[in-house]
Amino acid sequence: MKAAVLISGRGSNLQSLIDAQKSGDLHAEIVKVVSNVPDVQGLQRAEEAGIETAVLDHKNFEDRESFEDALHALLADAGIDLVCLAGFMRILTDNFVSRWRDRLINIHPSLLPAFKGLHTHERAIEAGVRFSGCTVHFVRPAMDDGPIIVQAAVPIHADDTPDDLAKRVLAEEHKIYPLAVRLIADGRIRVAGDRVAIENAVSPDTALINPAN
Ligand code: GAR
Repeated sequence: MKAAVLISGRGSNLQSLIDAQKSGDLHAEIVKVVSNVPDVQGLQRAEEAGIETAVLDHKNFEDRESFEDALHALLADAGIDLVCLAGFMRILTDNFVSRWRDRLINIHPSLLPAFKGLHTHERAIEAGVRFSGCTVHFVRPAMDDGPIIVQAAVPIHADDTPDDLAKRVLAEEHKIYPLAVRLIADGRIRVAGDRVAIENAVSPDTALINPAN
């Protein structure tokens, strides 16, 4: 399976995918990394791994449609089977999303459908919830919406700052993104309506309780 990773910045999730590929755990090949922002750290990570990169700076396009047409052409020409959004901070139109339906996935730093959008960690702390986490899901036209593939939950501690929580969640992002790609590459995923069924999935049978006492 040929994958492309779309980024806008740091690229730590991209790095987790590159690392999984190197250790043979991804079961897919990342053949393109595309950034809509020039000179970001993620592009450097791709180059160091010997992966082809492309910069499609949205500012150089007249409108969203022409940006997405160029993006689509680039991905189609490279024979991409799966597009992974990894900190890609650009809203994609319904048109692009439907062209890549069930072949386009995203990672979001919350337990969706809670806390869609930006500033997830601040908002989770402010809401007083005891857990947050991260989600990998198929992309649908609405923002941060679509069938969920994998989630990881982490506790929120009483004295957490948004940065503390971001770090705890990010460590799990780096586990679940490679896992989600592997499940898809192995053909274990079926999208049925709004839900994903996973062949032979084993889910944990213990509950997490916070506070623990
Ligand atoms: C990650 O936390 C990712 O979940 C988030 O941006 C960060 C990118 O970090 N994505 C979103 O908020 C998308 N709605 P990275 O560039 O180091 O992978």
